[in-house]
Amino acid sequence: MAEEIEAARTEAPWQRGLSGVSESRDGSAGAPLSLAEALKRPQAGDGERLATGFSELDRLLGGGVLPGQVILLAGPPGIGKSTLILQAAASLGSKRRFLYVSGEESREQVLGRARRLALSSERLFLLSETNLASILAHAEKAAAEGLVIDSIQTIFHPELPASPGSVVQVRECAFALLARAKAAGLPLFLLGHVTKDGALAGPKLLEHMVDTVLYFDSERQGALRILRATKNRFGPTDEIGLFEMGAEGLRDVPEASSFFRFGASDDPVAGRASSISIEGTRPLVVQVESLAVYTRYPLPRRMATGIDLNRVLVLLAASEKHLRLKLENQDVFVSLAGGLKLKDPAIDLAVCLSVASALSDVPIGPEWALVGEVGLLGQLRSVSHLETRLKEATRAGFRRALVPSRSVKGLPGKAAVGLELVEARDLASAAKAVLQGS
Ligand code: TYD
Ligand code: MG
Repeated sequence: MAEEIEAARTEAPWQRGLSGVSESRDGSAGAPLSLAEALKRPQAGDGERLATGFSELDRLLGGGVLPGQVILLAGPPGIGKSTLILQAAASLGSKRRFLYVSGEESREQVLGRARRLALSSERLFLLSETNLASILAHAEKAAAEGLVIDSIQTIFHPELPASPGSVVQVRECAFALLARAKAAGLPLFLLGHVTKDGALAGPKLLEHMVDTVLYFDSERQGALRILRATKNRFGPTDEIGLFEMGAEGLRDVPEASSFFRFGASDDPVAGRASSISIEGTRPLVVQVESLAVYTRYPLPRRMATGIDLNRVLVLLAASEKHLRLKLENQDVFVSLAGGLKLKDPAIDLAVCLSVASALSDVPIGPEWALVGEVGLLGQLRSVSHLETRLKEATRAGFRRALVPSRSVKGLPGKAAVGLELVEARDLASAAKAVLQGS
């Protein structure tokens, strides 16, 4: 790989530009422009947003796709990238002429998939091709107003000696496509495979070039797919999009809370606690499960799934001190349902009390939603968007919520949130309210 990069630096025949692909690399061809004049011009983010047919994808993009926007969609093989973008392109094709280029599948295969998904669009064109020059020529000929490249790792620049998927090929093909997209105002989707541990470098090296980077993943085997924007020049990056893969392809999952709960049963079980997390603007009911067992190791084990282990260690220390839990001879395992990975500190309280519940073998009633950040001194800190969280808790059927006293002041009125609010200042009083008498 190092050799390829070196070769690219010294030989660089493609820097002359591929015939017919000679726009400047960032697509900003033209003379220097005064700032004042430039500011009067419409900018990329001002354009008309095109809906993709998926409300989850549109929300993640900040309202839809913009002309000239270059979007990298990366994810492990088989996760549903081709399916997502074929469906989106069919929908976008009702407004613009889209060219879907597959370097992985024959046109018949793509057609077969489109047929199975019952997609139809007058203005979506399918092409099976890996040669960049030919792709650009076809895009021109078809007067494409939008382009999908599936996947960037299969495309090759004919003037480059390196093989498709190599660093040089991936980068140079992406440059040429990006230049075309920017110059012509075409939305461009680049699909790329990454392995679970991110071992494949391809998509990574494109991140700085594109406007938007989307990662598609499912943490667990199952139908739910999670789409995250890790970079977005024209929209938010903290949102997640949720999709379900079914026989008819992917569909939006706007109401997702049920996916992040362990089982459907509402029987109280020691070690389980619920909370309401916020991902971007979306409230999600999440469940934490903890297991504490007598250790056989000199150094007790601590494991966390879905939450940062270091944070769990701090919360365990706070619980030992302020709830007087005896954890020094216990292995402790903490897990978040549904394969989510959360950073929201509002679930701290649920983590601490699920451990307390596991250790004491006293279940937490299923009517409780526990919301609060836990400080080192055992105090409960207020959390953002409390009202949104409580509304979601009510909607999901919780009847009581434990919230930090500090947060309650800002609430519009208890009646408005629709469930009984119990305030606590600190971990100890929270544990007393929830774990006693259950
Ligand atoms: P695909 O979009 O080909 O994944 P990627 O492009 O990320 O490699 O999706 C592949 C998987 O999705 C495959 O295992 C079959 C499954 N699938 C369905 O379950 N339902 C469907 O309607 C379609 C089209 C695919
Ligand atoms: Mg694919």
